[in-house]
Amino acid sequence: MELFAGGGGLAIGMEQAGLESILLNEMDKHACATLRHNRPDWNVIEGDIANVDFTQIEEEVDILTGGFPCQAFSYAGKSLGFEDTRGTLFFEMARAIKETQPKVFLAENVRALLTHDDGRTLETIKSVIDELGYELVEPRVLKAIFYKVPQKRERLILVAIRKDLAQKVKFHWPSPYRKVMTLRDAFYAGELYDTDVPESEGQLYPERKREIMEHVPQGGYWRDLSDDLQREYMGGSYFLGGGKTGMARRLSLDEPSLTLTTSPAQKQTERCHPIETRPLQVREYARIQTFPDNWEFKGSKNAAYKQIGNAVPVNMSKALGHSLVRLLNDIESLEQPTTGNA
Ligand SMILES: C[S@@+](CC[C@H](N)C(=O)[O-])C[C@H]1O[C@@H](n2cnc3c(N)ncnc32)[C@H](O)[C@@H]1O
Repeated sequence: MELFAGGGGLAIGMEQAGLESILLNEMDKHACATLRHNRPDWNVIEGDIANVDFTQIEEEVDILTGGFPCQAFSYAGKSLGFEDTRGTLFFEMARAIKETQPKVFLAENVRALLTHDDGRTLETIKSVIDELGYELVEPRVLKAIFYKVPQKRERLILVAIRKDLAQKVKFHWPSPYRKVMTLRDAFYAGELYDTDVPESEGQLYPERKREIMEHVPQGGYWRDLSDDLQREYMGGSYFLGGGKTGMARRLSLDEPSLTLTTSPAQKQTERCHPIETRPLQVREYARIQTFPDNWEFKGSKNAAYKQIGNAVPVNMSKALGHSLVRLLNDIESLEQPTTGNA
């Protein structure tokens, strides 16, 4: 069961690892259209999670997954329990867990959750997980580049096992792949894809911005411009100094991409194509997140960029999915009566 499913990054990876989905919830209509178009068999519940009654689910839920958007809890000088987190999206995920009692759940989030509200948000999440009857595996920040993803994305992963099972099994984190993929692997036929990236729609730069970006070399950024162009491009920020290595940034074919955002050409997080002077196209975006080429995104091109930029990279999700399948197999072997004398 997948919550906050978006355009399906986490869900496809789980499917590729062999898991079957019984329900996906998402409130964005374009993301839902994407899920339904690509997987007509999936049970996509469109709407606010707060309105979903999980007690109606008849199937046994082995695994619940989802990336709840991170929000602050409001404290009144006391530590919070499950009921006190009401009104947040974490509460809704916790409620889904309470109502379906999955054997295991996986929650993904941004690294910043570790330090959000001086660590109090994560502490509250941990104590609610305990209150729900789950044992949390020590959370880890996984780097996508170690899981066949040509992108420097990081995600915080929480895995928890129902307490009646937790003492008998152990979760094994996925092992890193032997090679780091680069943008070249994303765009050209090779180990990741059988063909070069297909042509697709994409944003364009305004004329003057394109003229300026022409001067940035692969892997370079605004500091590689002449002083005049730096002043023109940076405006007031020119005088602020500092790194700002995301500004006027052009990606390099020989490195993994920087983390994609929900829009391909924002001033602070520019990711210009390595060779052509334009923002990345939709299918290039999708490949950097390791979506299959035949996974279509519904809605406008901006809706597509958003679904892709929000996703858990498919290959990282698949690696996690394999770890979850292994864990479920271990749980199932405990439940089988032993046969023979061996
Ligand atoms: C970070 S994205 C999830 C991406 C997804 N895990 C993937 O791998 O593609 C978070 C999603 O939560 C959805 N969302 C936010 N609030 C919601 C709510 N109240 N009910 C249902 N979905 C919600 C957003 O529309 C967004 O698509």
